[in-house]
Amino acid sequence: MTAPITLGVAPRFYKQWQLARNAVGFCNQLRAEFGDLVLARGFFDFYLVNDPELVGMVLVNKDRIVDRVDARNPIYQRIGNIGRSGLATSAPEHWRPQRRRVAPLFGASTIRGFAETMIATAETWAARWDAKAASGVAFDMKAEMNELSLEVNTRCLFNTELRDDHARLQGWFSTMKRYLEAFPYPLFGAWRFPSPLNLGTRAALRAFDRWALGLIARRRAAPLAPDAIDMITRMLGARDPETGRGMSDEEIVHELLTFLIAGFESTSSALLWTFYQLSQHPDIEARVHAELDDVLGDRALTMADLPKLGYTRRVIDEVMRQTPAVWFMARTTVTEVDLGGNRIPEGSHLLMSIPTLHNNPAVWSEPARFDPDRFLPEAVAARSPGAYVPFGRGPHACIGSHFSLQELLVMTAALARRFRAVLVDDLDPTDVRAGLSVYPRHGVRMRLERRDSSGPVRAR
Ligand code: HEM
Repeated sequence: MTAPITLGVAPRFYKQWQLARNAVGFCNQLRAEFGDLVLARGFFDFYLVNDPELVGMVLVNKDRIVDRVDARNPIYQRIGNIGRSGLATSAPEHWRPQRRRVAPLFGASTIRGFAETMIATAETWAARWDAKAASGVAFDMKAEMNELSLEVNTRCLFNTELRDDHARLQGWFSTMKRYLEAFPYPLFGAWRFPSPLNLGTRAALRAFDRWALGLIARRRAAPLAPDAIDMITRMLGARDPETGRGMSDEEIVHELLTFLIAGFESTSSALLWTFYQLSQHPDIEARVHAELDDVLGDRALTMADLPKLGYTRRVIDEVMRQTPAVWFMARTTVTEVDLGGNRIPEGSHLLMSIPTLHNNPAVWSEPARFDPDRFLPEAVAARSPGAYVPFGRGPHACIGSHFSLQELLVMTAALARRFRAVLVDDLDPTDVRAGLSVYPRHGVRMRLERRDSSGPVRAR
């Protein structure tokens, strides 16, 4: 049982058109005007759940009150056309054994094993940033972080250099993203309707599938050493511990697409926001530099250093509070549910806007203030676990969270110890485009400066 909460009911069609243009702003407005549990009706009827206790209860789903994928939920129908049998979009009966098979692939020792690849990629990137810093020319930080994150993901997941394939991958992903982010108009939006966007998306899916099947065939023909940390090799050998069933090639393809789509842009968004926030808070940036100089001196970064970077890690946590990379989670009730004393009918859609939750002034004092010390252990222990969910919570919690957090820490440490990113054009961090992940609406132009005068830069 959770404490009683008054259900706010927004007038029918109340500003719902904003869902297409400014979804996070719309959810913030619903919370500010109608409270922590709001019924919004119109093109799409849903309950916005904003109370940390309720969010925790829905996500943990102890009493099986909700499903994430439900035929009645238009959001997941659309995402499901892309993710298909992948973990993020499959129906419960497929998802359960699949999560059992795949979870061990993201275990702590596997992720630690990726550290060397991540550090090596960061070193390559530092050399690239050297040239950018020397030129002093401003560039689009979003595109830069996208490329970096795709590189880390493909090198770690496929244990191979796929740089020659990046342009093709980015092209297919951007078509799929356009489809996912388009407004689902009833007729033109239907998957079978032969609109240019639908046809293009299906072509991109076919092309990706052929490419991924080619990689699987190569792994079969020339297997890697048994201890190689490669997701394809591991998926070929993965078995459901309960039934012993493995994965078909088609299932592996869908999972690879899921890992790439779910993983690379969200991590890229978090990296972008990290360098943006450092550029806006010189005092915090100075503390990060001091920690990096203190822990690393002028030797190379190693895996053993990561647990010692407590302040840098808190900066990343605070970045993901204020500007979380993924903005929404949705569920459908499979029975009548009591939410804070309100009876919510079966078949209702529940929406949780992560930025709205993370900036709720009832939970976070002065949410607009960037303060990494909100993540000191005693402050974390004093909060409801449902108040901070950048990677979700419960059975559907992000399978890649440890992977991403390690990547974020490695990249921030390796790049921030040598470079300062300087914002060139003004930017309002609340004016975001919330699609698959959250980005500043008008891009982020930055230039780089080396820290030569203020800290060690020689490490290689
Ligand atoms: C900063 C980076 C990332 C963020 C913020 C993020 C966020 C999230 C969130 C909020 C969820 C929960 C969705 C829900 O409950 O409906 C989720 C699920 C998921 N994420 Fe991530 N993610 C990130 C990186 C990754 C990476 C690197 C991978 C894979 C390599 C990944 C794969 C997945 C998958 C497969 C799911 C679905 C899990 C399931 O339902 O069993 N994510 N992520």
